[in-house]
Amino acid sequence: MNKANNTKRRQLVVGNWKMNGNQRTNAELLAKVVAGWQGKHNADVAVCPPFPYFQHTLELLASSSIVLGAQSVSEYESGAYTGEVSARMLADWQCRYVIVGHNERRRMQQESDTQVAQKFVAVQREQLVPILCVGESLEQRETGQALAVIHRQLNAVVESVGCDAFEHAVVAYEPVWAVGTGKTATPQQAQEVHHFIRELLGDVGQRVRILYGGSVKANNAAQLFTMTDIDGALLGGASLDAEEFLSICRAADI
Ligand code: PGA
Repeated sequence: MNKANNTKRRQLVVGNWKMNGNQRTNAELLAKVVAGWQGKHNADVAVCPPFPYFQHTLELLASSSIVLGAQSVSEYESGAYTGEVSARMLADWQCRYVIVGHNERRRMQQESDTQVAQKFVAVQREQLVPILCVGESLEQRETGQALAVIHRQLNAVVESVGCDAFEHAVVAYEPVWAVGTGKTATPQQAQEVHHFIRELLGDVGQRVRILYGGSVKANNAAQLFTMTDIDGALLGGASLDAEEFLSICRAADI
């Protein structure tokens, strides 16, 4: 089955700005991106700024089809959780997508599989769309554990909400060894994992968008997007450069 006759999954490109940018650079970046992404497209595009720039980003995107996403969220609804942001607050800011389980948070904030599953639930409770990140470390890949790790990370969510919940979710495969390193998984390596994820999700799997993340650039995006089970990209570094970002969005616009 190739992309032309599959179940018409619309490609999605998400720019995760991480902890970068300021009012001036964000305005410059989005002015170029918005100007270069006018009219109708066959791909969806979202940007995930740091929280202090939510309002500013919304203003900059006012005339655009590009939507707002968040880099993280609390698993709790409200209360004494200093420094945290709830899914309801994100919904209040017209946020559409929320990244959960990004490997930087799993590693640096020690987010567990259980906590990631709770965040997934919190996001869907507010009718927002979680982007669940899964992916193995270099050591896990080299010792043949990649698929087992991904199975475990995905299963933590499936056990809590069932496969059907993925009807309104996105999955991102991000091999940890490829994030921010300049090393990209080959299209075949990524395809193998994407197919594995789709199979794990059963019937719903055919409709779930599975993004690839990890050093996607303008010069490798088109090749990745030709793979049957790759439905777009989750970008870090490339989303901070308007030309690079737009080229990848255009490569997905097929
Ligand atoms: P990168 O980051 O594109 O800079 O490798 C990807 C990500 O963390 O989403």
